[in-house]
Parts: sequence; C-alpha cells; structure tokens
Amino acid sequence: MMMTSLSQVALDNLLKEAEKAAEKSYSPYSGFRVGAALRLANGQVVTGTNVENVSYGLTICAERAALVRAVSEFGPAIRIEAVAVANLNGTASPPCGACRQMLAEFSEPDAPVVFPAADGTRTMPFEQVLPLGFDMKLKKTGGPE
Ligand code: THU
Repeated sequence: MMMTSLSQVALDNLLKEAEKAAEKSYSPYSGFRVGAALRLANGQVVTGTNVENVSYGLTICAERAALVRAVSEFGPAIRIEAVAVANLNGTASPPCGACRQMLAEFSEPDAPVVFPAADGTRTMPFEQVLPLGFDMKLKKTGGPE
C-alpha cells in the first residue's frame, strides 16, 4: 500500500514529538501515559496527550486531544498527512476506534499512522487503520418536508 512520501526521518521525528507529549499526560487513574503528534499539510506539527477524569468515561485520548488542538489553532481546513502515537508504558497502543473515527475527517487516506504494536512500532496507511469509518451522505431529496 502506498503512503505519502514523508521520509522515515520525518516519521521518526514525529514519533519523538509524540513521546515528548506523553510526558505531559494526566493519567492518575490508569497510569497509562500516551502522546500523539499530527503532521499537518501546512507543515505544522501538533501534539496532544491523554487527559483523564475521575468520572472515567470523560477521559480524552491523546489523539483526540491533538486533533482538537490542531483545529483550534489552524481551523477547519486542516489536513493530516501523518499521525504518530507513543506511550511511556512500553506496550502496544494503536489508536482507539473513537479516535480513528475522529481523525478520519481530517486525514488523507494514505497518511502514515505510526504506533506501538504488539510486534514493535508499526506504520500503516490511515485507510487501513480505519477501513470502514462512518460517513453520512445526506440525500438532497426525500427528507422530511
Ligand atoms: N488512551 C489514549 O490516549 N489513546 C488511545 O488510543 C487509547 C487510550 C488513553 C485513555 C486513557 O487515559 C488511557 O489511555 C487508558 O485507557
């Protein structure tokens, strides 16, 4: 599968940024420290970390934290050309399903996604990471009058 022509060096740097972001994690409940780094088509790198809450379900993952930060800083037209995820716990952490769905609207299908997998660091194109995301093509006709 083809991925965008970002160099391995650029991806390695993005992973470093994700690792750095993980050091900021607020994760007193799980102890799982995650960082994410998004490389945008405008050349900017935006990072995020997971922010937990005592009402556990309100927790925000690192990937979504980075995404909302990127849109907040650069607006709704951002395009993501690479994603890196890291954790400081030395275990696998592919982006969760909710984060994949959120990233999908802003990510190029061939954007490389780098993440810690069970067998080491893996890089996969976004379209393989989320093959059948929800999309909504509203019909122009036939809706309620
Ligand atoms: N977490 C992330 O930040 N990203 C993921 O893709 C999966 C899980 C966080 C949420 C929570 O703070 C901790 O990891 C344990 O689930």
